[in-house]
Amino acid sequence: MDFDLDETASMVQASARDFANKEIVPRAASIDREGKIPRSILKDLADLGMMTLALPEELGGADVGTVAYSAALTEIARGCASTGVTMSVTNMVAEVIARFGTDAQKKQYVPKLASGALVAGSFALSEPEAGSDPGAMRTTAKRDGDHWVIDGAKQWITSGDFAGVFVVWARTGGAGTKGISCFLVEQGTPGLSVGHHEDKMGLRGSSTTALHFEGVRVPETALLGELNGGFKIAMMALDGGRIGIASQAIGIAEAALGAAVDYAKERKTFGAPIADHQGIQWMIADSRTELDAARLLTYRAAYLKESKQSFSSQAAMAKLYATEAAGRICDRALQIHGGYGYVKEYDVERYYRDVRVTRIYEGTSEIQRVVIGRGVTG
Ligand code: CAA
Repeated sequence: MDFDLDETASMVQASARDFANKEIVPRAASIDREGKIPRSILKDLADLGMMTLALPEELGGADVGTVAYSAALTEIARGCASTGVTMSVTNMVAEVIARFGTDAQKKQYVPKLASGALVAGSFALSEPEAGSDPGAMRTTAKRDGDHWVIDGAKQWITSGDFAGVFVVWARTGGAGTKGISCFLVEQGTPGLSVGHHEDKMGLRGSSTTALHFEGVRVPETALLGELNGGFKIAMMALDGGRIGIASQAIGIAEAALGAAVDYAKERKTFGAPIADHQGIQWMIADSRTELDAARLLTYRAAYLKESKQSFSSQAAMAKLYATEAAGRICDRALQIHGGYGYVKEYDVERYYRDVRVTRIYEGTSEIQRVVIGRGVTG
C-alpha cells in the first residue's frame, strides 16, 4: 500500500499550492470582506485546469483523476474556502454532464466549463422545503411540444448569480424520488431569475442565491439522462461532490492549524512560548491527528472513485469525519489565539466561520450518517 501521492497528483497539488500562495492567500480576507471572488481568479483557475480536473482531455479536462482533484482542491480551499467551493461545485457539474450527457450536451458545456467561458457551474437541487429530502421537491417541468417548461423555486444555490450553466432538478412524474428529471439550463434563459442573496455567516465570497423559474422553456435536448431518472443522477453526483467538500474542509483546517502553530510559537505566557505548554501541545496533537485521519479517509474515497469502484459510503464517511474534525480543529485554533482569534485581524476568525457550513451542505452530517448506516445494515 502506497500512501504517497503519485507523480501526477503531486504536480497538480504543487501547482494548486503555488497558485493559492501567490494569488489567493493574499486576497482571501478581502474576498470575505467584499463578498466576491475576483473573476480573474476563477479564470486563472480554469486556465490551470482546476475547474475540470478529473474530466477527459477530449472535453478540455485535465484528466488527472480524483485523488489529484482532492489534493488540489484542498490547497485552493486552504487559501480561500469560498474559492474552494466554487471550484468544487464547478467540477461536480462538469462531471455530471460528462457522465450523463449526450455527446452534444458534453460538447456544448464541458469545454466551456473547462476554459472558464461559462465562469462556473451550478447545482440546483435544493428547494426552500426540500434540502435533506430532495425527493420532496416541488419544482415541475411539463412538456409543451418539443420543449419543457420549468416552474418553481430553488434555494441555497452556490454561484446562482453568475454560473453560466445550471443542472436543475424538476418533477416530471408522480410524487417521490421516481418522478424527478434533470435539465441543463443556461443563465439568462427567459423566466429564470436570481432571487435573494443569502447574507451568510461564512463563505462570504461565494454567492448563495435563490433561483426562480417562471415558465422557463428549454428544448427537449436539455433533458440530462433519462426521463424520471434524475434523482439517481443527483445522488451519484453528490457522492462525488462529498469528496470535494471533505477536501475543502481539510483545506480550511490545514490553514487554521498552520495559523495556530505559528501563533503558538510566537506568543509567550508564563515566560515561555505557549507552544511549550502541554495544554497547547495536546490541542495541536489532536488537530494534526484528526487532520491526517480526515485526509486518509478522503484519499481512500477519491481512490475508489477514480478506480471505478463503489465509493458512496466511503465518500459519506470522508465528508462526515473531515467536516466534523475540521470544525474541532478550527475551534481549537481560535482557542489557541485567545482573544486575538475572535477578531477579524486574524485569519482564524474567518476559518471558524467558513468551516461551519461544510457540516451542512452537500448533505448534512446527519444525512451522511444515514448513507453510512444504510451501507452497513444493507
Ligand atoms: N447512487 C445511486 N443511486 C442511489 C444512490 C446513490 N448514491 N442513493 C440512492 N440511490 C437510489 C436508490 O437506490 C433508489 O433507487 P430505486 O428507486 O431504484 O430503489 C433511489 O435512488 C431512491 O433512494 P432512497 O429511497 O434511498 O432515497 P431517499 O429519499 O430515502 O433519500 C438520501 C436518500 C441519501 C437521504 C438523499 O435524499 C440525500 O442524499 N439527501 C441529501 C441531499 C443533499 O445532499 N443535498 C445537498 C444539496 S446540493 C449542495 O449543497 C450543492 C452546493 O451548492 C454546495
